[in-house]
Amino acid sequence: DKGAYPFYMLKEIDEQPAVMRRLVSEYLDADGQPMVEEQMLADIADADHIYIIGAGTSYHAGLVGARMFEKFAKTPTTVHVSSEFAYEQPLLSAKPFFIFLSQSGETADSREVLVNVNKNHWPSLTITNVDKSTLSREATYTMLLFAGPEIAVASTKAYTAQIAVEAVLAKALGEYLKSEDAKDFDLKHELATVANGMQAITDSKDKLEEIVSHYLSKPRNAFYIGRGVDWAVSLEAALKLKEISYVQAEGFASGELKHGTIALIEKGTPVIGIITQDRTAGLTRSNLEETQARGASILTIVSRHLAKEDDTVILPDVNPYLTPLLSVVPAQLLAYYTSLGKGLDVDKPRNLAKSVTVQ
Ligand code: F6R
Repeated sequence: DKGAYPFYMLKEIDEQPAVMRRLVSEYLDADGQPMVEEQMLADIADADHIYIIGAGTSYHAGLVGARMFEKFAKTPTTVHVSSEFAYEQPLLSAKPFFIFLSQSGETADSREVLVNVNKNHWPSLTITNVDKSTLSREATYTMLLFAGPEIAVASTKAYTAQIAVEAVLAKALGEYLKSEDAKDFDLKHELATVANGMQAITDSKDKLEEIVSHYLSKPRNAFYIGRGVDWAVSLEAALKLKEISYVQAEGFASGELKHGTIALIEKGTPVIGIITQDRTAGLTRSNLEETQARGASILTIVSRHLAKEDDTVILPDVNPYLTPLLSVVPAQLLAYYTSLGKGLDVDKPRNLAKSVTVQ
């Protein structure tokens, strides 16, 4: 029931702080130690490579998680679109472990990959919102998202829950493997900070609605740009905008723009920079300026410690691996208000189904 909300999507965006807190209580004990099946950790520790498989938003959540498995658990990780992997399987390592990311647990493309994984007796984990879903039943292990039902076609709280569960797993695996980085990663504290930060962003909706009316209500195209995890979030931010507001949006690695795509920038094209990483903040800022010099209207979503006077949206500071949990929220709201302003059915965009059960 969506209660007083006009659309499920807005309700689900607002539920994200509560989902973060729920995940803390489901997966971290009083001392902040992860509560994760030991045998699963042993199986992943035994593997030499993690393959993450997903589609759409779940694929985007995988792009964020991969960095954490490499940082905290020192395990090489690659992320694959399920519909590609199913038919063009790359050369695999000797001991693969598969992680399936799927809100519904029913996506046909991902199921196709799991059938083959099982034929080869490779161990697997499904991270899903739906207990007893097909991908959950058929994988070796399951971790639930505990996000509550997601009704809007555009995925929001499942994306952030997937990233948080990946963080739990990265920490658990890293501790199992005795990594110092994992030990120092105070996830309980970080997720509490994230929950408060999400709350602060969802409390300032008016500002995002106003940005939409100035910059996003008219243009036919828009760009999100960033580097590293900010690029990963750019892809998700652009997908949100495309699928519910029908603005043709692209998420782009900010350094790649000048290699061709910058030709698309015209007067008034919105270019939104996501800036949360110390090493690349300055570079993304200069890439934004390059587009501004060609007429773009630039907007920024920036972590507080990197913020400057003219920035558009300021995010509370969190661990650099978890910034996607915050930077995506304004992007979800920008997509929501753009769709709403056009009078579209936010929850049921044209041509789309909540669960894609055909290949
Ligand atoms: C976009 C969206 C889709 C799904 C994709 C995979 O907002 O919801 O891109 O992420 O269809 O679905 P699941 O996660 O159920 O496998």
